[in-house]
This record gives sequence, C-alpha cells and structure tokens, in this order.
Amino acid sequence: MNNKTFLITGGYGFIGSALIRKLLNFKNVKVINIDNLTYASNLKSIGNPDEKKYKHIEIDICNLLSVKDVLDKINPDFVIHLAAETHVDRSIDGPDKFISTNVLGTYNLLKCCYNYWSSLSGKKKSSFKFIHVSTDEVYGSLKKGEKQFTENDSYQPNSPYSASKASSDHLVFSWNRTYNFPSIITNTCNNYGPWQFPEKLIPLTIKKCLSLENIPIYGSGLQIRDWIHVEDHISGILKVLEKGGIGEKYNIGSNNEIQNIDVVSSICDILNKKFPSEVDYNSLILKVSDRPGHDFRYGIDNSKITKLGWKPKYTWSSGLVSTIEWYLENKAFFDDSILKNYSGERLGKI
Ligand code: NAD
Ligand code: TYD
Repeated sequence: MNNKTFLITGGYGFIGSALIRKLLNFKNVKVINIDNLTYASNLKSIGNPDEKKYKHIEIDICNLLSVKDVLDKINPDFVIHLAAETHVDRSIDGPDKFISTNVLGTYNLLKCCYNYWSSLSGKKKSSFKFIHVSTDEVYGSLKKGEKQFTENDSYQPNSPYSASKASSDHLVFSWNRTYNFPSIITNTCNNYGPWQFPEKLIPLTIKKCLSLENIPIYGSGLQIRDWIHVEDHISGILKVLEKGGIGEKYNIGSNNEIQNIDVVSSICDILNKKFPSEVDYNSLILKVSDRPGHDFRYGIDNSKITKLGWKPKYTWSSGLVSTIEWYLENKAFFDDSILKNYSGERLGKI
C-alpha cells in the first residue's frame, strides 16, 4: 500500500474513516476522500492528517462531472467505494435517497471509473482495482440452523436498503463481466467499533444507557446478527485488495452470530461494571413494535477470505469491551451526533 494513491468514497462515515485512519499509516500514501457529508459523517473521525497525504473533497458521488474531474486530477491507483445510505429504518421511512446514492451513485461512479481506467496504460492500468464494499443483507434472511451464506448464494434482499445495495452489487459485477472492469465486491456483516453513528444498535444502546433512557428492542429481540469489529473488516478489505481475484466476491465476517437481546444485555452488564449508576442498565430494555420486513438472521461463511491468509484479531468479548471503553472515553461523540433530518416514527417513538 506504500506509495499508492487511493480514492475513497464515504470516508467520513463509520467504516470509511476507520479505513482512512489505517491507510494513513502507510508510507507516501495519498488518500482522497470524496464525501458529501450527510448526517452520518463525522469530520472529527479522521483527525488532522498531514495535508501531503490526505485531502477531502465535498462532492456527491451522483455528480458525474465532479467525480470525473477528481479522477482526472488525482490519478488513483485504487478506488474503494463505501459511500452509501446505510440505515435500514431510514430506508423504510424514506427510500428515495437509498436509490439515489446506493444505486445511481454507484452507477455514476462505475461509469466514471471505467472511463478513467480505460484511459490508463501499462502497469498503472493492469494494477488498478475498484473495491465495492457491500453487506451480507443482500443475501436475505436465514432461519435458525440453516447454513451460513456463501459467496455463491443468490440474492434475496428484503428491505429498501438491502435491495439498493444488491442493485449496486449487480451493477459492479456486470461491469466486470461485460467490460472487464477490474472490480471486486466485499460483503461484510454488522460492523461495530468507534465512531459509529448512534442510530445503529450498539452505539444506540450505549447512548441510551448513558442518558438513562429506554433501550428499544424491536419485536422479540431474538433476531440474530453476525458481528465483526470494524478494524477486522478493514484488514479484510486490504487483504482482498492485495490478494483477491478480479471479478470475485468475498464475505468478510468473524463468525459471531448473536441474538439482539444478548448484544444489548452484554452491553448493559459491561456498563454496570464500568460505569455504574443508580439503576441496573438492563432495566432500561423495552420491547417495542417490530421493524417491518425484519430479517430474522444474518450469518456469513468466511472461508473464502480466510484462504487469502486473513483472520480477525478481535473476539466478540475483546471487541465489545474495547468499543464500550471508547464510547465512555469519548462521550462528547454523542453530542455531535444529533439525529438530523429524521422525522421517522421508529426513532421518534422512543
Ligand atoms: P455510514 O452511514 O457511517 O457513512 C456513510 C458515508 O457516506 C457518510 O460519511 C456520508 O456522508 C457518505 N455519503 C453518503 N451519501 C453520499 C453521496 N451521495 N456522495 C458522497 N458521500 C456520501 O456508513 P458505514 O457504516 O461506514 O458503511 C460504509 C459502507 O459499508 C456502506 O456501503 C455500507 O452499505 C457498507 N456496510 C456497512 C455495514 C455496517 O455495519 N455499518 C455492514 C455492511 C456493509
Ligand atoms: P442495526 O444496527 O440497525 O443494523 P441492521 O438493521 O443493518 O442489522 O440493527 C441491528 C439489529 O438490532 C436489527 O435486528 C434491528 C435491531 N434493533 C433493535 O432491536 N432496536 C434498535 O433500536 C435498533 C436500531 C436495531
């Protein structure tokens, strides 16, 4: 990764910022972050990096001329695409932005990157790669006991969010098959770690505990998600960039399938010890009406990426404890993350 120029989309988001923090450790690396700063972005998440190594350009990935201009000016060796609308509940209340950014934005980025790549020659052209970061939610929902999803499973998305990500995956795949565009798709599971916007289950639970508010559990709470620490996801993306096959897809997961109620109880138990208050945080848990179309279980088989020599470094318990410690040390993060522009009922009810 040394001496390379990266174009990152969505680099002020939760995962994009973790990727940029990691990339900035490499020698002579250049990172250009295109991010139009939606509610989910956080300008503090990357700190104040060396201007010779890092530049942010505030543009929408849907803007063809701006994206083309950036590519022509910076001449990237690699593009890693993370910009997206990412919250399922918001996609239920307002799908338009999901179609615009996730589908049309990815289409626009592909067109621009394909034209850019076509104009290259020699080693720069043959080593160029486009990594599309996607989700396990495209595969749909598993029943208890069913085998985890592999890269060969077909897509069955159930929410507007997962349908929009599935559409973007199909576009990326087709650009490889039709135009030989050097793309690779990664499908990861639920990420957790520092800097995640507190609309997602783990930071939301911590935030609710710290403000002694009810913690909403949708439906039975028995739904299962497969959790990976964001740094393990990043090391997986970089492994795929280094060793993955062009036109392939890779699941990036840590084999941590856990019921929502157990995720929330574990957070409450850890906070009871690390940040005791007058109440047991478990008493804040409140069952609320279920999410429409709520997928029961996600679980991904990671054997394909482990064959590239990747393995996660966090266990669920080490990752969860260090994540909670980070939020406790950075409580001001929750003040920054005001839920802007959201009039949806689900969060409004609570
Ligand atoms: P996030 O919601 O935290 O951040 C998204 C970032 O993209 C924000 O900084 C936002 O400003 C930017 N963005 C949104 N629309 C844009 C546009 N039109 N133009 C430019 N920038 C735009 O997202 P995240 O959790 O970091 O997820 C990153 C990627 O990983 C997404 O593609 C998501 O689908 C995928 N993913 C996330 C998870 C997860 O658990 N967070 C799991 C699987 C896959
Ligand atoms: P979330 O963090 O929104 O991620 P995703 O929907 O992409 O998996 O939700 C994780 C799980 O937690 C999901 O099954 C929905 C559930 N959930 C709750 O029970 N309460 C909440 O307040 C939130 C945000 C999620």
